[in-house]
Amino acid sequence: MIKTAVFPVAGLGSRFLPATKAIPKEMLVVIDKPLIQYAVEEAKAAGIEKFIFITSQGKEAIEDHFDSHSALESVLQARGKTEDLEKICSIRIPEGQALFIRQHEPLGLGHAVWCARHYIQEESFALLLADDLIQAHKSCLKQMVESYNDDDGNMVAVIDVPESEINRYGVLDIARQSGAKVVARGVVEKPSSANAPSSTAIIGRYILRKSIFGPLGLKKQGAGGEIQLTDALQTLLASDTPLTGFRFKGDRYDCGTKIGWLQANLALAASDPELRPYLQSVMVTLNKAS
Ligand code: UTP
Repeated sequence: MIKTAVFPVAGLGSRFLPATKAIPKEMLVVIDKPLIQYAVEEAKAAGIEKFIFITSQGKEAIEDHFDSHSALESVLQARGKTEDLEKICSIRIPEGQALFIRQHEPLGLGHAVWCARHYIQEESFALLLADDLIQAHKSCLKQMVESYNDDDGNMVAVIDVPESEINRYGVLDIARQSGAKVVARGVVEKPSSANAPSSTAIIGRYILRKSIFGPLGLKKQGAGGEIQLTDALQTLLASDTPLTGFRFKGDRYDCGTKIGWLQANLALAASDPELRPYLQSVMVTLNKAS
């Protein structure tokens, strides 16, 4: 039973400057919702009940987004805007179910996860990176939770990436595959394409065993001088905790990059009956102009 999810939101978002100078990257909007809301909704759909956010200075908007807003709610109520009111209220995380922990310095994803160590009670917990937006018939995390069993050890969502992008990801060395599951014999963070063990890369959804806090606590610097979660997964794998890749059904957009964010907006607009005709007419105009 996976009931707790960690959302690291303390990164600098430097690839999206200047947009992210004063606005958290996780609050960037795709169509009409911030990235972090998509991730929280995905977690809710997977049965998550406790939401732990690893935040930093300047990320207060995230906490506010999941709180109530009494002035706004009263105005919507008084104006009879029931639909908007429902939309606003449904965003809330119920009282006592959200926790905000500060990471003092952006030392890396592994360090951000380590900051949650005192607040994980169960043996396994979920980790979601909001800049990976995933559109799926059944939420990606739900697919993982349903398929997960203790023998999987640590589970990571994976996709195949083109050779030119391999050096941006944690990449699995694959021992064998069985259905949607990939059994790893190793994992390496940001390898060059020449040294990559495969093209199967980890994206921002994980089910982690609590034992991950052991190697993370050593605070060893890895690729880019950051404390890497991938290195901790490799350490546990070497001491017999399996690492399982999971090929989910759905489309993933890397909204930490401009191109990925643009793709997400276009794809979501194309699947929205209200927006689709406008998108089509814009495309026609663009095609004529080129
Ligand atoms: P990224 O690797 O995308 O880093 O982090 P970043 O700092 O957000 O963005 P760039 O590379 O500077 O453009 C993946 C996720 O991990 C969180 C980020 O907030 C993001 O959700 N993170 C990263 C932390 O919480 N703390 C860190 O020290 C690093």
